[in-house]
Amino acid sequence: MFRKLNLFKIYRTFNKRQLSLSIRCCNNFTEESKDFTHFGFETVKTDEKTEKVHQVFKDVAEKYDLMNDAMSMGIHRLWKDIFLERLYPTLGTKLLDVAGGTGDIAFRYINYINNLNKSNQDAYSKKSSVTILDINQHMLNVGMERAEKLGHISNETLDVEWVCGNAEELPLESDQFTAYTIAFGIRNVTHIDKALREAYRVLKPGGRFMCLEFSHIENNETLQWLYDQYSFQVIPPMGQILANQWQPYQYLVESIRKFPKKLEFKSMIEEAGFKQVTYENLTLGICAIHSGFKL
Ligand SMILES: C[S@@+](CC[C@H](N)C(=O)[O-])C[C@H]1O[C@@H](n2cnc3c(N)ncnc32)[C@H](O)[C@@H]1O
Ligand SMILES: *[C@@H]1O[C@H](CO)[C@@H](O)[C@H](O)[C@H]1NC(C)=O
Ligand SMILES: *[C@@H]1O[C@H](CO)[C@@H](O)[C@H](O)[C@H]1NC(C)=O
Ligand SMILES: *[C@@H]1O[C@H](CO)[C@@H](O)[C@H](O)[C@H]1NC(C)=O
Ligand SMILES: *[C@@H]1O[C@H](CO)[C@@H](O)[C@H](O)[C@H]1NC(C)=O
Ligand SMILES: *[C@@H]1O[C@H](CO)[C@@H](O)[C@H](O)[C@H]1NC(C)=O
Repeated sequence: MFRKLNLFKIYRTFNKRQLSLSIRCCNNFTEESKDFTHFGFETVKTDEKTEKVHQVFKDVAEKYDLMNDAMSMGIHRLWKDIFLERLYPTLGTKLLDVAGGTGDIAFRYINYINNLNKSNQDAYSKKSSVTILDINQHMLNVGMERAEKLGHISNETLDVEWVCGNAEELPLESDQFTAYTIAFGIRNVTHIDKALREAYRVLKPGGRFMCLEFSHIENNETLQWLYDQYSFQVIPPMGQILANQWQPYQYLVESIRKFPKKLEFKSMIEEAGFKQVTYENLTLGICAIHSGFKL
């Protein structure tokens, strides 16, 4: 089960500078570790805490990227880009990216912050930060490695932290983030209401909740039919061919169908206490961005 985390710091030399990378690590998390397979999820046995396991997860992560591109025809990248544009980070944003896995959202956020015009004096007085949280330590390890390669390590203008934990029970203090994001992660959370309440708790007043998730085509039978054909006739066979696995992709499309529709999910967000809850259709409603504020 979930255990209290220990906090330690690893100092590494990067670009001839001494930068700190702070990591919170999970203890005994392997038993309930979850592998994720592309937009869906699959449990794999990870009894060994070895390099070998790490290598497996690295391979999985690479395959994950490949499959996301193949199945969405590259569109997931656009969705994530739009998601970041809608989030509209500014200097001083303190972001918590839940189910952040291998850093897809966090790295976009970091690039976004880096591209802001920092010629004004605020740049150094307003420190931004991103905390990437995931239930799976192996995914975080892959993400941290990628971050290091990209140079996305904490410095005087930006803090980057990796935390292992459950979205339903965040190991984080209340009222500290200005933004909470979760991309293709909430669908696999067992108690979505709990995760939403936790999101509300850790956000500062004025903070924003944003969720990117698959949704439903509504009110168009033709498009619905086409989408169903693609989902059920193309995706699992594609999984079989490219990843040699059918079941996880079958699960993926089924879990998308089971996820609440946009208005229902909107109500759930409101029930957690968020105000001004809105959503936006992406790609005919196949995907949606939900947003709400803690006021
Ligand atoms: C499909 S991946 C999405 C990764 C990334 N956000 C993206 O958009 O590519 C889902 C991630 O959610 C994580 N996850 C699943 N259930 C979780 C939970 N209850 N709390 C935190 N993370 C969870 C998985 O470990 C996995 O890394
Ligand atoms: C989350 O993923 C795991 C592993 O694939 C699965 O067994 C479980 O049913 C999923 N939970 C939800 C709520 O979708
Ligand atoms: C950045 O902002 C400064 C003033 O705040 C302005 O003079 C400069 O042209 C801006 N640079 C770019 C590339 O927008
Ligand atoms: C500060 O850290 C961020 C994230 O690690 C990095 O992308 C950025 O280039 C760094 N900025 C400077 C001035 O070193
Ligand atoms: C989203 O698309 C659905 C149809 O799929 C439509 O009923 C709804 O009005 C749209 N909502 C917004 C906010 O665009
Ligand atoms: C369904 O969507 C297609 C493509 O956008 C459109 O041409 C068609 O009129 C729509 N049908 C209905 C019933 O709305």
